[in-house]
Amino acid sequence: MAYEMILLERRGGVALITLNRPKVLNALSHQTMTEMAAATAEIDADDTIGCVVLTGNDKAFAAGADIKEMIELGFVDAYFGDHLALWDRVAACRKPMIAAVAGYALGGGCELAMMCDFILAADNARFGQPEVAIGTMPGMGGSQRLARFVGKSKAMEMCLTGRQMDAAEAERAGLVSRVLPLAELLPEALRTAEKIASLSRPAVMLIKEAVDRAFDTPLDVGIRFERRVFHATFATEDRKEGMTAFVEKRPPVFCHR
Ligand code: HXC
Repeated sequence: MAYEMILLERRGGVALITLNRPKVLNALSHQTMTEMAAATAEIDADDTIGCVVLTGNDKAFAAGADIKEMIELGFVDAYFGDHLALWDRVAACRKPMIAAVAGYALGGGCELAMMCDFILAADNARFGQPEVAIGTMPGMGGSQRLARFVGKSKAMEMCLTGRQMDAAEAERAGLVSRVLPLAELLPEALRTAEKIASLSRPAVMLIKEAVDRAFDTPLDVGIRFERRVFHATFATEDRKEGMTAFVEKRPPVFCHR
Protein backbone atom coordinates (compact mmCIF):
# COMPACT_ATOMS: atom_id res chain seq x y z
CA MET A 1 0.00 0.00 0.00
CA ALA A 2 1.23 3.54 -0.76
CA TYR A 3 1.06 5.73 2.35
CA GLU A 4 0.36 9.48 2.37
CA MET A 5 -0.41 10.32 6.00
CA ILE A 6 2.49 8.32 7.39
CA LEU A 7 6.00 7.38 6.32
CA LEU A 8 7.06 3.75 6.76
CA GLU A 9 10.78 3.01 6.61
CA ARG A 10 12.66 -0.17 7.34
CA ARG A 11 15.98 0.23 9.12
CA GLY A 12 17.40 -3.25 9.53
CA GLY A 13 15.10 -5.10 11.89
CA VAL A 14 13.26 -1.92 12.89
CA ALA A 15 10.24 -0.32 11.23
CA LEU A 16 10.04 3.44 11.70
CA ILE A 17 6.58 4.97 11.26
CA THR A 18 6.46 8.77 11.13
CA LEU A 19 3.10 10.53 11.31
CA ASN A 20 3.29 12.93 8.42
CA ARG A 21 0.76 15.76 8.52
CA PRO A 22 3.02 18.46 9.99
CA LYS A 23 0.83 21.40 8.87
CA VAL A 24 -2.01 20.23 11.15
CA LEU A 25 0.21 18.95 13.96
CA ASN A 26 -0.35 15.37 12.75
CA ALA A 27 -4.10 15.49 13.41
CA LEU A 28 -5.29 11.92 13.04
CA SER A 29 -7.64 11.64 10.05
CA HIS A 30 -9.67 8.66 8.97
CA GLN A 31 -7.03 8.05 6.31
CA THR A 32 -4.27 8.14 8.95
CA MET A 33 -6.13 5.43 10.86
CA THR A 34 -6.60 3.33 7.71
CA GLU A 35 -2.91 3.66 6.81
CA MET A 36 -1.78 2.88 10.36
CA ALA A 37 -3.90 -0.28 10.38
CA ALA A 38 -2.42 -1.34 7.02
CA ALA A 39 1.14 -0.57 8.15
CA THR A 40 0.60 -2.61 11.32
CA ALA A 41 -0.57 -5.60 9.26
CA GLU A 42 2.41 -5.18 6.91
CA ILE A 43 4.84 -5.11 9.83
CA ASP A 44 3.26 -8.10 11.56
CA ALA A 45 3.57 -10.10 8.32
CA ASP A 46 7.20 -9.09 7.75
CA ASP A 47 9.59 -11.61 9.30
CA THR A 48 12.52 -9.20 9.00
CA ILE A 49 10.96 -6.69 11.43
CA GLY A 50 11.44 -7.20 15.17
CA CYS A 51 10.34 -3.86 16.59
CA VAL A 52 8.52 -0.66 15.60
CA VAL A 53 9.12 2.98 16.47
CA LEU A 54 6.17 5.35 16.04
CA THR A 55 6.98 9.04 16.05
CA GLY A 56 5.82 12.47 14.89
CA ASN A 57 7.89 15.63 14.61
CA ASP A 58 9.54 18.02 17.09
CA LYS A 59 6.36 20.09 17.60
CA ALA A 60 3.75 17.36 17.67
CA PHE A 61 3.47 13.62 18.01
CA ALA A 62 -0.22 14.20 17.22
CA ALA A 63 -2.59 16.94 18.42
CA GLY A 64 -5.57 14.60 18.40
CA ALA A 65 -8.18 13.25 16.08
CA ASP A 66 -8.89 15.55 13.12
CA ILE A 67 -11.49 17.93 14.56
CA LYS A 68 -12.38 19.39 11.16
CA GLU A 69 -13.18 15.93 9.85
CA MET A 70 -15.42 15.12 12.83
CA ILE A 71 -17.56 18.27 12.90
CA GLU A 72 -20.34 16.93 10.68
CA LEU A 73 -20.30 13.36 12.01
CA GLY A 74 -23.63 12.15 13.44
CA PHE A 75 -24.20 9.34 15.94
CA VAL A 76 -25.75 6.87 13.51
CA ASP A 77 -23.00 7.32 10.90
CA ALA A 78 -20.35 6.93 13.59
CA TYR A 79 -22.10 3.87 15.01
CA PHE A 80 -22.85 2.09 11.73
CA GLY A 81 -19.38 2.90 10.38
CA ASP A 82 -17.82 1.68 13.65
CA HIS A 83 -15.82 4.90 13.59
CA LEU A 84 -12.34 4.43 15.14
CA ALA A 85 -12.47 0.61 15.21
CA LEU A 86 -9.42 0.33 12.95
CA TRP A 87 -7.28 1.72 15.78
CA ASP A 88 -7.87 -1.61 17.57
CA ARG A 89 -5.75 -3.23 14.86
CA VAL A 90 -2.90 -0.85 15.63
CA ALA A 91 -3.17 -1.58 19.34
CA ALA A 92 -3.15 -5.31 18.51
CA CYS A 93 0.22 -5.17 16.69
CA ARG A 94 2.10 -8.30 17.71
CA LYS A 95 5.56 -6.75 17.38
CA PRO A 96 6.71 -4.41 20.15
CA MET A 97 5.91 -0.78 19.34
CA ILE A 98 7.69 2.16 20.98
CA ALA A 99 6.13 5.63 20.89
CA ALA A 100 8.78 8.35 20.57
CA VAL A 101 6.85 11.46 21.62
CA ALA A 102 8.02 15.05 21.17
CA GLY A 103 5.72 18.04 21.47
CA TYR A 104 1.97 17.63 21.69
CA ALA A 105 0.40 14.24 22.34
CA LEU A 106 -3.17 15.36 22.90
CA GLY A 107 -6.50 13.57 22.69
CA GLY A 108 -6.17 10.82 20.09
CA GLY A 109 -2.41 11.58 20.00
CA CYS A 110 -2.04 10.69 23.68
CA GLU A 111 -4.29 7.69 23.12
CA LEU A 112 -2.21 6.51 20.16
CA ALA A 113 0.99 6.81 22.21
CA MET A 114 -0.67 4.71 24.93
CA MET A 115 -1.54 1.99 22.37
CA CYS A 116 2.21 1.45 22.04
CA ASP A 117 4.07 -0.83 24.45
CA PHE A 118 5.99 2.00 26.06
CA ILE A 119 6.55 5.69 25.58
CA LEU A 120 9.86 7.53 25.38
CA ALA A 121 9.32 11.27 25.69
CA ALA A 122 11.36 14.29 24.67
CA ASP A 123 11.72 16.98 27.31
CA ASN A 124 9.26 19.18 25.36
CA ALA A 125 6.50 16.53 25.29
CA ARG A 126 3.03 17.44 26.52
CA PHE A 127 0.31 14.88 27.20
CA GLY A 128 -3.37 15.57 27.63
CA GLN A 129 -6.95 14.51 26.99
CA PRO A 130 -8.53 17.87 26.11
CA GLU A 131 -11.68 16.48 24.45
CA VAL A 132 -13.92 17.78 27.22
CA ALA A 133 -13.06 21.32 26.09
CA ILE A 134 -14.67 20.63 22.71
CA GLY A 135 -17.74 18.94 24.15
CA THR A 136 -16.69 15.34 23.71
CA MET A 137 -14.51 12.77 25.44
CA PRO A 138 -11.67 10.32 24.78
CA GLY A 139 -12.72 7.80 22.13
CA MET A 140 -9.55 5.88 21.25
CA GLY A 141 -9.04 4.24 24.64
CA GLY A 142 -7.88 7.24 26.68
CA SER A 143 -10.33 6.90 29.57
CA GLN A 144 -9.27 3.28 29.99
CA ARG A 145 -5.56 3.29 29.18
CA LEU A 146 -4.70 6.56 30.95
CA ALA A 147 -6.33 5.24 34.13
CA ARG A 148 -4.21 2.08 33.84
CA PHE A 149 -1.02 4.06 33.25
CA VAL A 150 -1.38 6.79 35.88
CA GLY A 151 -4.17 5.68 38.23
CA LYS A 152 -7.67 7.01 38.77
CA SER A 153 -7.01 10.37 40.39
CA LYS A 154 -4.69 11.80 37.75
CA ALA A 155 -6.61 10.22 34.86
CA MET A 156 -9.89 11.65 36.15
CA GLU A 157 -8.37 15.09 36.64
CA MET A 158 -6.84 15.12 33.18
CA CYS A 159 -9.93 13.86 31.38
CA LEU A 160 -12.33 16.08 33.36
CA THR A 161 -10.32 19.29 33.03
CA GLY A 162 -8.19 18.78 29.93
CA ARG A 163 -5.07 19.77 31.88
CA GLN A 164 -1.84 18.81 30.13
CA MET A 165 1.10 17.04 31.76
CA ASP A 166 4.64 17.98 30.85
CA ALA A 167 7.28 15.32 30.29
CA ALA A 168 8.64 15.40 33.84
CA GLU A 169 5.18 14.89 35.35
CA ALA A 170 4.42 12.16 32.82
CA GLU A 171 7.58 10.32 33.89
CA ARG A 172 6.76 10.71 37.58
CA ALA A 173 3.25 9.42 36.93
CA GLY A 174 4.48 6.36 35.03
CA LEU A 175 3.01 7.39 31.68
CA VAL A 176 6.42 7.44 30.02
CA SER A 177 9.34 5.17 30.70
CA ARG A 178 12.05 7.80 30.15
CA VAL A 179 12.50 11.47 29.26
CA LEU A 180 15.28 12.43 26.87
CA PRO A 181 16.64 15.66 25.43
CA LEU A 182 14.74 16.37 22.21
CA ALA A 183 17.77 15.75 19.98
CA GLU A 184 18.32 12.37 21.62
CA LEU A 185 14.73 11.13 21.38
CA LEU A 186 14.69 9.45 17.98
CA PRO A 187 18.27 8.12 18.08
CA GLU A 188 17.63 6.56 21.50
CA ALA A 189 14.23 5.18 20.42
CA LEU A 190 15.87 3.58 17.38
CA ARG A 191 18.74 2.18 19.47
CA THR A 192 16.23 0.72 21.92
CA ALA A 193 14.20 -0.78 19.06
CA GLU A 194 17.36 -2.24 17.46
CA LYS A 195 18.24 -3.85 20.77
CA ILE A 196 14.77 -5.44 21.02
CA ALA A 197 14.88 -6.51 17.34
CA SER A 198 18.25 -8.22 17.92
CA LEU A 199 16.85 -10.40 20.71
CA SER A 200 14.96 -13.68 20.29
CA ARG A 201 11.76 -12.77 18.45
CA PRO A 202 9.67 -15.56 20.00
CA ALA A 203 10.83 -14.52 23.49
CA VAL A 204 10.13 -10.85 22.78
CA MET A 205 6.64 -11.50 21.41
CA LEU A 206 5.73 -13.86 24.24
CA ILE A 207 6.95 -11.32 26.81
CA LYS A 208 4.78 -8.64 25.21
CA GLU A 209 1.76 -10.94 25.44
CA ALA A 210 2.53 -11.81 29.05
CA VAL A 211 2.98 -8.22 30.27
CA ASP A 212 -0.25 -7.22 28.49
CA ARG A 213 -2.05 -9.98 30.40
CA ALA A 214 -1.27 -8.11 33.62
CA PHE A 215 -3.87 -5.52 32.65
CA ASP A 216 -6.83 -7.71 31.76
CA THR A 217 -6.68 -10.76 34.03
CA PRO A 218 -6.74 -11.50 37.76
CA LEU A 219 -3.24 -12.08 39.17
CA ASP A 220 -3.55 -15.88 39.49
CA VAL A 221 -4.69 -16.25 35.87
CA GLY A 222 -1.89 -13.95 34.69
CA ILE A 223 0.71 -15.90 36.68
CA ARG A 224 -0.51 -19.19 35.16
CA PHE A 225 -0.41 -17.67 31.69
CA GLU A 226 3.15 -16.46 32.32
CA ARG A 227 4.25 -19.90 33.50
CA ARG A 228 2.82 -21.61 30.42
CA VAL A 229 4.50 -19.21 27.99
CA PHE A 230 7.71 -19.49 29.99
CA HIS A 231 7.47 -23.26 29.48
CA ALA A 232 6.81 -22.61 25.78
CA THR A 233 10.14 -20.81 25.39
CA PHE A 234 11.76 -24.21 26.06
CA ALA A 235 10.45 -25.31 22.65
CA THR A 236 12.48 -22.63 20.86
CA GLU A 237 15.96 -22.90 19.37
CA ASP A 238 16.69 -19.40 20.66
CA ARG A 239 16.22 -20.43 24.30
CA LYS A 240 18.79 -23.22 23.87
CA GLU A 241 21.15 -20.89 22.04
CA GLY A 242 20.77 -18.11 24.63
CA MET A 243 21.57 -20.35 27.58
CA THR A 244 24.36 -22.19 25.72
CA ALA A 245 25.98 -18.89 24.74
CA PHE A 246 25.88 -17.74 28.37
CA VAL A 247 27.62 -20.91 29.54
CA GLU A 248 30.18 -20.70 26.70
CA LYS A 249 30.80 -17.01 27.53
CA ARG A 250 30.00 -15.76 24.01
CA PRO A 251 27.24 -13.57 22.53
CA PRO A 252 24.15 -15.52 21.44
CA VAL A 253 23.25 -15.83 17.77
CA PHE A 254 19.45 -15.91 17.63
CA CYS A 255 17.65 -17.40 14.64
CA HIS A 256 14.22 -16.18 15.82
CA ARG A 257 12.86 -19.72 15.89
C1 HXC B 1 -7.53 19.33 13.20
C2 HXC B 1 -5.80 20.56 14.03
C3 HXC B 1 -5.81 19.84 15.24
C4 HXC B 1 -6.78 18.78 15.36
C5 HXC B 1 -4.27 21.32 15.37
N1 HXC B 1 -4.82 21.46 14.16
N2 HXC B 1 -4.86 20.32 16.04
N3 HXC B 1 -6.65 20.31 13.03
N4 HXC B 1 -7.61 18.58 14.31
N5 HXC B 1 -6.86 18.03 16.45
C6 HXC B 1 -4.45 22.43 13.12
C7 HXC B 1 -4.94 23.82 13.43
O1 HXC B 1 -6.29 23.97 13.04
C8 HXC B 1 -4.02 24.66 12.58
O2 HXC B 1 -4.44 24.59 11.24
C9 HXC B 1 -2.70 23.89 12.67
O3 HXC B 1 -3.04 22.55 13.05
C10 HXC B 1 -1.74 24.45 13.70
O4 HXC B 1 -2.45 24.50 14.93
P1 HXC B 1 -2.51 25.83 15.85
O5 HXC B 1 -3.69 25.68 16.73
O6 HXC B 1 -2.42 27.05 15.01
O7 HXC B 1 -1.14 25.67 16.67
P2 HXC B 1 -0.82 26.24 18.11
O8 HXC B 1 -1.34 27.64 18.27
O9 HXC B 1 0.65 26.02 18.28
O10 HXC B 1 -1.64 25.35 19.13
C11 HXC B 1 -1.31 23.96 19.28
C12 HXC B 1 -2.45 23.20 20.02
C13 HXC B 1 -3.79 23.47 19.30
C14 HXC B 1 -2.53 23.70 21.48
C15 HXC B 1 -2.10 21.72 20.04
O11 HXC B 1 -3.61 23.21 17.92
C16 HXC B 1 -4.90 22.62 19.80
O12 HXC B 1 -5.45 22.90 20.85
N6 HXC B 1 -5.28 21.62 19.00
C17 HXC B 1 -6.44 20.79 19.30
C18 HXC B 1 -6.13 19.83 20.44
C19 HXC B 1 -7.32 18.96 20.76
O13 HXC B 1 -8.39 19.45 21.20
N7 HXC B 1 -7.16 17.63 20.53
C20 HXC B 1 -8.25 16.71 20.81
C21 HXC B 1 -9.05 16.48 19.56
S1 HXC B 1 -10.40 15.41 19.83
P3 HXC B 1 -4.68 25.91 10.36
O14 HXC B 1 -5.22 25.39 9.07
O15 HXC B 1 -5.60 26.77 11.17
O16 HXC B 1 -3.29 26.49 10.24
C22 HXC B 1 -9.72 13.92 19.90
C23 HXC B 1 -10.66 12.78 20.17
C24 HXC B 1 -9.94 11.48 20.06
O17 HXC B 1 -8.57 13.70 19.75
C25 HXC B 1 -10.84 10.32 20.28
C26 HXC B 1 -11.87 10.08 19.30
C27 HXC B 1 -11.56 10.36 17.90
